[in-house]
Amino acid sequence: MRVSWAKLLALSYIYEASQGSPVQVRNEYQLQPFHIDLSSRVPRMLDQIKGTQLPAQPVYINTGTSAGISLSLLESFRTEWLTSFDWNREQEDLNKFNHYTAVIEGLKVHFIHETSKAKDAIPLLLVHGWPGSFLEFAPVINELTKEATTTTGKKVSFDVVVASIPGFAFSSAPPVNWTVADTARVFNTLLTNVLCYDTYATFGTDWGSGIAYSMYYQFNTTVRALSLDFLPFHPYTSDQLAAENITLSSLEEFEQAEATEWNNSGEGYFVEQTTKANTIGLALYDNPVGQLAWIGEKFVNWSDPNAGQSPSVLTHNQILRSVSLYYLTECFASSVVLYQQNPNGFASVYTKANTDAPLLYSAFKYNVGFWPPAVVAKTGNLVLYTNHESGGHFPGLDNPPALLEDLREIATYWS
Ligand SMILES: *[C@@H]1O[C@H](CO)[C@@H](O)[C@H](O)[C@H]1NC(C)=O
Ligand SMILES: *[C@@H]1O[C@H](CO)[C@@H](O)[C@H](O)[C@H]1NC(C)=O
Ligand SMILES: *[C@@H]1O[C@H](CO)[C@@H](O)[C@H](O)[C@H]1NC(C)=O
Ligand SMILES: *[C@@H]1O[C@H](CO)[C@@H](O)[C@H](O)[C@H]1NC(C)=O
Ligand SMILES: *[C@@H]1O[C@H](CO)[C@@H](O)[C@H](O)[C@H]1NC(C)=O
Repeated sequence: MRVSWAKLLALSYIYEASQGSPVQVRNEYQLQPFHIDLSSRVPRMLDQIKGTQLPAQPVYINTGTSAGISLSLLESFRTEWLTSFDWNREQEDLNKFNHYTAVIEGLKVHFIHETSKAKDAIPLLLVHGWPGSFLEFAPVINELTKEATTTTGKKVSFDVVVASIPGFAFSSAPPVNWTVADTARVFNTLLTNVLCYDTYATFGTDWGSGIAYSMYYQFNTTVRALSLDFLPFHPYTSDQLAAENITLSSLEEFEQAEATEWNNSGEGYFVEQTTKANTIGLALYDNPVGQLAWIGEKFVNWSDPNAGQSPSVLTHNQILRSVSLYYLTECFASSVVLYQQNPNGFASVYTKANTDAPLLYSAFKYNVGFWPPAVVAKTGNLVLYTNHESGGHFPGLDNPPALLEDLREIATYWS
C-alpha cells in the first residue's frame, strides 16, 4: 500500500484529534472525532420499558419457539434490562474505540477506525447487517489490529474500519430510493478519499454482505479482497443442488435443512419490512419492549443454541445493548427501510464479479442461509471456504475466534 505525503498529513490529523489535541479537523469531508453520549435519552427508555404492560399469561400457549418469542423470555429480558443492564457502562466501554464521522454525498457517516502499529497492515472494512450494528464487531476489532500469523505462518494485522450503514445508529438516514450499491459507493469513498487507502479488504454479513459484494463488484481496483459469511443471492433449493450434481457433507446437509426451515417459517419479518416498512417502523419507533421482541427474537433464533457460552459472547446483555442502541439512536424505522429500498437485494440470478481479487467464505452451522462452495464460486474468485461447527448469523458475537482466524487468512492471498 502506497500512502502519499498529503494522505499521511490527513491521517495524522485524525490521530491528533483522537488523542484529544485541539487540532481542528477540517477538510471537504468534515472528518471529525465522535463520542457517544446518549445518556440523556436513557430515562425515557427506562420509563417506556417500565410502562409497557405485558399479559399475565401467554396468549398463545404450547407453541414453543415456532410462534416467535415467548412471553417468559421477553419478561426475563425485560427484567434484566431494568435491573442489571446499564447503558452508561456500555457507552463507556464503546467510547474506548476511536469513533469518527465524515460527510459523504451529504450523508453523515459514522465509523470506528482502529489502526495497527505494523507498517504493512491491511486496511479492512467490516460491514454489519440488520438487526445488527457496529456492535457486531466489537469483540474482534482490537484483536485484528494486533500482529498475528495466518495458518500458513504469514504475518498479519489490520487497520480496521467499522462503518454504520446509512440509517443505522449514528449514520444519517439515506434519501428515498437509496440502494445497497449507493452505500457501497459511499463506503468506497470513505476508505479511499477520506481515509486515503489505495486498496483495502472488506468483510460483510447479512445486508453487509450485499454492500461488501457490491463494493467488490463495482470497485475492482480498490477492493482487493472480500470475505463473506452470507451471499446476496437466493440459496439453492435441494432440487437445484441435485440438478447441478452438488453433493453435501453431513454438516452441509444440516445447514441446508436449517436454511430451508428459515425460508419456510422465518421470513415473515422480511416480507413486512420489504413491503410495509413504515408500518412496522412507526409501530415500534418509540417502543423499546416492542423492539426487543422484534429484534431480540432474531438474535436468539439465528444464533447457535449455545449462544452466550464460550466461544460465543452473545449474552442477553449483548442483545440488550444492541436493542438499546437502536432505541436510543432512534434508528429502528430508518433501519427497516433498507429492505423496502432494496426489494431485489437478494437476487435469484447469480452474477460473477469481474475481478481477480480473492473471495474468502465462512459458513457457520447455525446461520440462516447456506451456500456450498460450488455455489459461492459462481459469484467471484473463491480461494478459501471454511465451515464452522459452531456460531450462527452474528459470528463477531457468536464465534469471534473463528471469524478472527478466517479474516486473518486474507493475508495469505493479499498482494
Ligand atoms: C423512487 O423510485 C420509484 C420507483 O422506481 C419512482 O417512482 C420514484 O419517482 C422515485 N423517487 C425519487 C424521489 O427518485
Ligand atoms: C424459498 O421459498 C420460496 C417460496 O416461498 C421458493 O421459491 C424458494 O425456492 C425457496 N428457497 C429455498 C432455498 O428453499
Ligand atoms: C450431472 O450428472 C449427470 C449424470 O452423471 C450428467 O448427465 C449431467 O450432465 C450432470 N449435470 C451437470 C450440471 O453437471
Ligand atoms: C427458530 O425458529 C424456528 C421456527 O421458525 C424453530 O424451528 C427453531 O427451533 C428456532 N431455533 C432456535 C435456535 O430458537
Ligand atoms: C475490473 O473490471 C473491468 C471492467 O469490468 C475489467 O476490464 C478489468 O479487467 C477488471 N480488473 C481487475 C483487476 O479484475
